[in-house]
Amino acid sequence: MLWGLVTAYYILSYPEIRWDWKTIKADKVYFPNNFMWGTATAAHQVEGNNTNNNWYNWEHQKDSNGSPRIHNKDKSGIAADHWNLYNNDIGLMNDLGVKYYRFSVEWSKIEPEKGVINKDALDHYRNVCTALIDSGLTPVVTLHHFTHPMWFENLGGFEKAENIKYFIQFSEIVFNRLSDIVPIWCTINEPAVYVSQGYFNGVFPPGKRDPTLAGYVMKNLLNAHVRVYRHLKTLPNGDAAQIGLVKNITQFDPLRRWHVLDWYLSQRLNDVFNNNTINLLTTGQFDFYLPTMADIYFKNDNAINALDFIGLNYYSRMHVKGHLSPTAPFTFELRPQDTQTDMPYAIYPEGFYRAVKNISKLNVPIIITENGIADDKDDRRKLFIERYLYALYKSILDGYDVRGYFYWSLIDNFEWAEGYMMKFGLYEVDFITQERKLRPGSHAFSKIVNQPGADKRGYIVSIGEKAPELLLEYTDGRKIHLSDFRGKIVVLQFTASWCSVCIQEMPHLEKDVWQRFKDDGLILIGIDRDEPLEVVQKFQKKVGTTYPIALDPGAKHFSKFAHKNSGVTRNIVIDKNGKIVFLTRLFDKEEFQNMIDKIEFLIKQ
Ligand code: BGC
Repeated sequence: MLWGLVTAYYILSYPEIRWDWKTIKADKVYFPNNFMWGTATAAHQVEGNNTNNNWYNWEHQKDSNGSPRIHNKDKSGIAADHWNLYNNDIGLMNDLGVKYYRFSVEWSKIEPEKGVINKDALDHYRNVCTALIDSGLTPVVTLHHFTHPMWFENLGGFEKAENIKYFIQFSEIVFNRLSDIVPIWCTINEPAVYVSQGYFNGVFPPGKRDPTLAGYVMKNLLNAHVRVYRHLKTLPNGDAAQIGLVKNITQFDPLRRWHVLDWYLSQRLNDVFNNNTINLLTTGQFDFYLPTMADIYFKNDNAINALDFIGLNYYSRMHVKGHLSPTAPFTFELRPQDTQTDMPYAIYPEGFYRAVKNISKLNVPIIITENGIADDKDDRRKLFIERYLYALYKSILDGYDVRGYFYWSLIDNFEWAEGYMMKFGLYEVDFITQERKLRPGSHAFSKIVNQPGADKRGYIVSIGEKAPELLLEYTDGRKIHLSDFRGKIVVLQFTASWCSVCIQEMPHLEKDVWQRFKDDGLILIGIDRDEPLEVVQKFQKKVGTTYPIALDPGAKHFSKFAHKNSGVTRNIVIDKNGKIVFLTRLFDKEEFQNMIDKIEFLIKQ
C-alpha cells in the first residue's frame, strides 16, 4: 500500500514527457539572431601525439583479464592530426557557417613536467585562437577535458585535494597567455562523467571501482572548478571573461514506471550525477549518497554562484532497473521501443528540454557545450539534429536563457574507451589519409545554423528589412498585394479571436491609430491568424473595430514575419518604401505609444 502511494507520487510528480513528432515540423525552428552556433572537440580526441597523459598510459594498458582497455585495441595515436591540420579544420567550420569553436588545451603538452612550461605548446594554442579570430570565429577554451599530465596522475590526480593547486597554476598560465583574445572559458569538462567512468565503472583511467572514492574525487573536481573560477576572475581580463563549468546531464528514469525500487534508485542517481552539482553551485551544499555504496557531504560557500554561465552537455537518458542486492543494486537497461544511436544512448530530444529546464535552476545563461550523435551509417543524424534542435528551440520559446549550441563533434575522433569505432563527426575522417568529408546528415545542422534567426519575441524579420510580399484577402472578398500600398504607411496587426490581449489592444488601434490617421492616408489592416471567415466576421463585430481585416489561412502570412509557434498580438509598421520600421509584441502601453509616435513622425515626413 505504502509502496503504491510512493510510486503514485513519483509517477505524478515526474510525468513522462513525450511529444507527438508526427505533428511537429522539427526543421522549422528559429533561433535568436545572436545565437552562438559552434562545434566542439577535445585535445586528446583530435590533436594526436599526446604521449604524456593519463589516457596515453591507459590506452597502453591491459585490464586484469589481459584485455585491452580500449575497444579494438585502438590507441589515440595521431588521431585526426588536428594539431597540424587546425587551419584546414577552421575552413570546415566556416563551410558550416558556425561562428564559435570550443576546444581544449592539453595540459600534458603545456606542462610536460611539473613546473616546466613548454612555450611552444602555449604558442600553438595562441596561433589556433588567432587563426580562428582571423576567420571570423570566436574561440572557447576548455582547461580540463578528461586528460592531464602523467606527473599529475602519479601524484594522485584529483583524488587528493592538495593537488588542486597544480591545476590552478596551470589554468593561470593558460589564462594569462590567451585571455586577451578568448572571451569564453570552460574550467572542467563533465566532472560527473570523469568520476563515474574513472571511479565507478572503471572504464576510464584510473580504472577504479570505488563509489566512496568517486564521491571524494567529485568533491575535489567541483572545488577545483570553484577555486579556478575565483582565481581567474582576479587576473587581468578576468572580469570580462565568461567562465563556466561544463555539466553533463543524463537523466536516470525508471525502467518500470510502476516499480518503487526503480524510481527510488533513479532519484538517487539523478541526485548524485545531476542535482548535487546544481545544489552546490546554488546553496553551497553537496550530498553524494548512494544507498549501500557512498555517503559524502560537504559545504563550500565559495561555490555559490561561482560561474558566469553553465555549459550543458546532453546526449540521452538511462533506464534504471533496481535489484535487491547490496553489491549491485541497479543496472541500466535499453528499451526495445527506443531508437538507439551507435553509443548505447536512445534518441530522446524531450530529455534535452528537461535538461535545459533542470540546469536553468542555476540562474545563469546556458550554453550547450556538447550535443551530437554517433552514427556510422549516417541514417539517424538528420533526425537527431532536427529533433534535438527543435527541443532546444522550444526551450528558448518557453523562456529558458539558452545562448548557444556547440555540436559534438566537428570531426570524427578518438571516442575514449570506444576508440575510433564511434563516428560523432559532422565531417567523416579517413584516419589514414586524414581526409575530411561532410556527412550528408550534417546538412540538417548547417541549414538551421544558416537560416534567419528570430528575435526573443519570435520575429523572424527585423527593423530595416523589406517587408515580405503578401496577397491579402479581406473579409469582404477584396484581394490586394501588400506591395500595392507602396508610397503609403502601412500597419499590419496580427490578431485572433481567442487572443485576449488582441481584444484589449484593438480598441486602441481603432481610436488612436485608425481614426486618427486614416485621413492622412494610413493603411491599417488586421490579419486574423488562421481562422475561418465566419469566426473573423463575428470577432470584428464583437470588438467593434472598423479597420479592414484580412484572412490568414494556415498562418502563412504570419509565418513570414514571426515564427509560426509564436503568438499574437503584434503590429508591424511599414514605411512608404516598403521597409519595416517598427515592431510591437503584446499590448505594452509604452511600446504602443512609441509606435504611434513613429507613425506620426512618418506621416509628417
Ligand atoms: C565528452 C566527449 C565525448 C562525448 C561523446 C562527452 O561526455 O565530453 O569527450 O566524446 O561525450 O561520448
